[in-house]
Amino acid sequence: MNPTGQALVVGGSRGIGAAIASALATEGWPTTIAARDSAQLERCRLQAAERGLKLSTARVDVTSQESVERLFGELTPRGELGVCVMAAGRNLSRRLLRPPRDAAEEWSAHDVGEWRDMVDLSLTGTFLVGRAAALSMARTGTRGVLIPIVSSTWQGSWGQSAYTAAKAGVVSLTRSWALELGEFGIRAVAIAPGVVDGAALREKCARNPAHARYMERLRQQVPLRRFAAEQEVAAAAVHVAANQYLTGTVLEVAGGGFPPRIH
Ligand SMILES: NC(=O)c1ccc[n+]([C@@H]2O[C@H](COP(=O)([O-])OP(=O)(O)OC[C@H]3O[C@@H](n4cnc5c(N)ncnc54)[C@H](OP(=O)(O)O)[C@@H]3O)[C@@H](O)[C@H]2O)c1
Repeated sequence: MNPTGQALVVGGSRGIGAAIASALATEGWPTTIAARDSAQLERCRLQAAERGLKLSTARVDVTSQESVERLFGELTPRGELGVCVMAAGRNLSRRLLRPPRDAAEEWSAHDVGEWRDMVDLSLTGTFLVGRAAALSMARTGTRGVLIPIVSSTWQGSWGQSAYTAAKAGVVSLTRSWALELGEFGIRAVAIAPGVVDGAALREKCARNPAHARYMERLRQQVPLRRFAAEQEVAAAAVHVAANQYLTGTVLEVAGGGFPPRIH
């Protein structure tokens, strides 16, 4: 690959984002990882350094416009921006309604505060970062790419309506941005992983045998009968960064299909 400018991975201190940052740095991109927790950013930087990779770090909270603008202010002197990956996010398992478990209990409904937090983090966070990145690329005339990480469940999934609706919003942003920014040579491509077999999932399964059994049933429904490695999602991001004719689309990295049919 022939990197133009620098790469930024927001949500790059753990999991998928950290794997993408390593893969981009391996390809020669000067790469910055950004997230809220500076201790974790530093751990990630040191782990990469042990493998001979240089990552820069920066703090950001994507739910704050001020924080996102400060981040891009810090990046500007480091040169033009060629790749911006938006991986900050978390899952939320909530049903719209939960039936009473016994005669004494009432129906309970999805909390609106949790809904707003998810939309703030996933949808507004991606909007704020993508907007700042596009502005930076347009000002320097860089033919860069915006890469939001969504989920293969973006078309809807049982027990995850806030999460999947926010991700569907991000897919829509991606397509709209590709239409609007194409004339400036700026691309937008979403990557939609299925379940990723990362440290967080393995720890949760080790702590919670019921969750481990549930995940095993899910795994059996994936056509390839396994979850993705973080490096497989990272390889997709490297491909998106390199292929100058990819834009306005969702690249699914889900082993042949999701969402799951069980709950
Ligand atoms: N893991 C999966 O199976 C899977 C499947 C499909 C899609 N995805 C999507 O892939 C993305 C990464 O998932 P992951 O599992 O790798 O997550 P993860 O391991 O929990 O990492 C999340 C990253 O986002 C950062 N982050 C969280 N809130 C933030 C905020 N408000 N501002 C800035 N950074 C923030 C975290 O650092 P701090 O907490 O320090 O800020 C961390 O660097 C998410 O968007 C997720 O929805 C994951």
